[in-house]
Amino acid sequence: MEAPRIIQLPKFFDRRGNLSVIEEMVNVPFEISRCYWIYDVPGGEMRGGHAYRRNREMIIALSGSFDVAVDDGYERRSFRLSRSYYGLYVPAGTWREISDFSTNSVALILASEPYDTDDYIYTYKQFKSYVRQQADTCP
Ligand code: TYD
Repeated sequence: MEAPRIIQLPKFFDRRGNLSVIEEMVNVPFEISRCYWIYDVPGGEMRGGHAYRRNREMIIALSGSFDVAVDDGYERRSFRLSRSYYGLYVPAGTWREISDFSTNSVALILASEPYDTDDYIYTYKQFKSYVRQQADTCP
């Protein structure tokens, strides 16, 4: 079972301004089929709050900062993302919540799968039973 982890991205510091880059299968361990971003989040709001069966993702704080809580059904960890040259890799089958957005923050999310509502697990209770079911079928 893979664990969520921080992946450091290349950074090219320059007096003209800095540059970072992501290439699929090089800095992110999947082929990117979709990319979306979350922005203009009002203070105190939470995004995410679901899991995916197949979709894997990389979350990057392009601007500002926010917390990402990740939970595999047994253990919950929290990462504060605040640098655009760090990505948080989130494997499939992870419950995740994004909160505590700073003003003007932008969360970029790279996804391995096309948008598919059937891939979503929408409640934590369903997620827990999905994890139990996976543990029973995969010795
Ligand atoms: P949702 O996945 O619920 O956002 P969050 O992860 O913050 O909970 O998506 C919010 C809305 O955006 C929902 O109406 C579906 C739409 N949406 C798409 O149409 N395509 C996408 O790729 C994503 C991620 C969302």
